[in-house]
Amino acid sequence: MTVRLLRTIAEVRAAHDEARHAGRTIGLVPTMGYLHAGHASLMDAARAECGSVTATIFVNPLQFAAHEDLSTYPRDLEGDLALAKAHGVDIVFAPDVEEMYPSGPVLTTVSVREITATLDGASRPGHFDGVATVVAKLFAIAGACRAYFGEKDYQQLLVVSRMAHDLSFPVTVVGCPTIREADGLAMSSRNVYLGPEDRAAAPALKHCLDAGAAAIAAGERSPDAIEATMSSVLAGEPRATMDYVAAVDARTLERPASLRGEVRLLVAAQVGPARLIDNLGVHAD
Ligand code: PAJ
Repeated sequence: MTVRLLRTIAEVRAAHDEARHAGRTIGLVPTMGYLHAGHASLMDAARAECGSVTATIFVNPLQFAAHEDLSTYPRDLEGDLALAKAHGVDIVFAPDVEEMYPSGPVLTTVSVREITATLDGASRPGHFDGVATVVAKLFAIAGACRAYFGEKDYQQLLVVSRMAHDLSFPVTVVGCPTIREADGLAMSSRNVYLGPEDRAAAPALKHCLDAGAAAIAAGERSPDAIEATMSSVLAGEPRATMDYVAAVDARTLERPASLRGEVRLLVAAQVGPARLIDNLGVHAD
């Protein structure tokens, strides 16, 4: 099977209508490209559950702040097409900015409240509006489908799920586990920014999460105490500058006095030129 590269919204709509008409479920995998094994795992999950798989590749300007890495974000369409093909993707939709935002400045945006007020939403004002807006557009373009997102971007997964639910998109959002390098570093397109010394330091984020999980396993339930443990582990790596560590309710991202049930541990840190994020799910009885 070959992978079809489509550049226009109209072509994707026509292809999806045809697939649905033939009785195939569409699996959608939205990405910003520079694909790695984390993206591939989403494609594999979509391939296993759906009759037709579409991956999207679009570096979305709306979700980058002016000082962020939009202009340097890594791109490799050739490599991406090869990876998509190897993982059974039928269609790659790679629109240009003109196709997605044809009228210049976007006047209509999608904003998800409350769960965007903390963590990456607090550190990157406007970021989740940009994500919710482009994902809403991708859902509107794709039509009824199952859409696959990684737990690697845990807050994004909650935002996209909530947006699809609140706006009644005919889309089932499916969350998939984080794929890691052998030393624990979560795979990310931005890992390419890391030089050898920063790359060696980057697993500190995973160590920080593991320390939080160990504290919970040892009976600690106070977010303050768990976060203190996490930040002291991260502080042990001089190349990592902490943005935040958090121990929160996995569903609401709220921070009760005492954690119970499904807990999410999250960390964001600057390591050399790369801003890295990671998270881990833990059950607290
Ligand atoms: P991007 O960073 O390219 O990620 C695309 C998808 O791959 C997201 O759902 C992300 O959570 C998932 N992913 C990334 N690294 C992963 C890993 N190590 N393991 C498992 N899944 C991983 O996230 C975006 O793009 C954009 O914000 C997007 C949703 C496409 C909107 O522009």
